[in-house]
Amino acid sequence: LHVAVLMGGWSSERPVSLMSGEGVATALESKDHRVTRIDMDRDVALRLSEAKPDVVFNALHGTPGEDGTVQGMMDLMGLTYTHSGLATSVVAIDKELTKQALVPHGVPMPGGRIVETAELYERDPLPRPYVLKPVNEGSSVGVAIVTDAGNYGNPIARDAKGPWQEFDRLLAEPFIRGLELTTAVLGDKALLVTELRPKSGFYDFESKYTDGMTDHICPAEIPDEITEACKAIALQAHRLLGCRGTSRSDFRWDDERGVDGLFLLEVNTQPGMTALSLVPEQARHLGMDYPDLVEAIIAEALE
Ligand code: DAL
Ligand code: MG
Repeated sequence: LHVAVLMGGWSSERPVSLMSGEGVATALESKDHRVTRIDMDRDVALRLSEAKPDVVFNALHGTPGEDGTVQGMMDLMGLTYTHSGLATSVVAIDKELTKQALVPHGVPMPGGRIVETAELYERDPLPRPYVLKPVNEGSSVGVAIVTDAGNYGNPIARDAKGPWQEFDRLLAEPFIRGLELTTAVLGDKALLVTELRPKSGFYDFESKYTDGMTDHICPAEIPDEITEACKAIALQAHRLLGCRGTSRSDFRWDDERGVDGLFLLEVNTQPGMTALSLVPEQARHLGMDYPDLVEAIIAEALE
């Protein structure tokens, strides 16, 4: 096959996407596919029409790339591409729209609300501890946990410095104590549950992409009931949103509350494919190596 691997771009996750894309491209070459690497710029449509690939592997993360814009462009161009399509991407990139799509179907997600960043300088939007996150970023870019210890000032004052300052619109959610869990879906199957145990702080950008900073417990050592619930919810969310190929659902589980303490945080339609990423790790535990995973994702697109 001739595969164009679309990567990079100009989102805040550009460096992550370059790692994902290079991993995918190298794997495809090891399987004797012809690969055209495309670092997305404003001329990406031109590059794709010149390359005339059989299929595009979308290794973009963040906005644009994971948010439907590039998917819509490829639809118009008549290209076959991996991962989710336009409508799914628009909803899944936005954590608030995702809640609106899933909660009415009984998917457990944290409460909380959208806040304008300016509001933060007046009062806390929720009782502490709470999490502030941009609605449409990935890799924990811009995420802050606001605690009573007042690590960002108490109350949040204009001179308090925090990652939220980069964004106009944020989601405030109650902080859920306990464990960070994640489940991949590939095709029509949920894979495994991984517990992420960062060695310090939370599973932020640095803990995600620095080797040795987070222990990955795969499969997670949690009760079967929780494992099964994660898998069922990940599969349900994948189907309700209309995801294609692969997705990865991230959870928090309050282990003092049993299954009632399990909450889906978000669904990632363009999950990372770096050396430290979680979908490849779960696939490997099930006997599918990285190049086979890449081919399986492409096979889903060609179906
Ligand atoms: N946003 C990153 C790439 C992930 O979900 O894996
Ligand atoms: Mg994400």
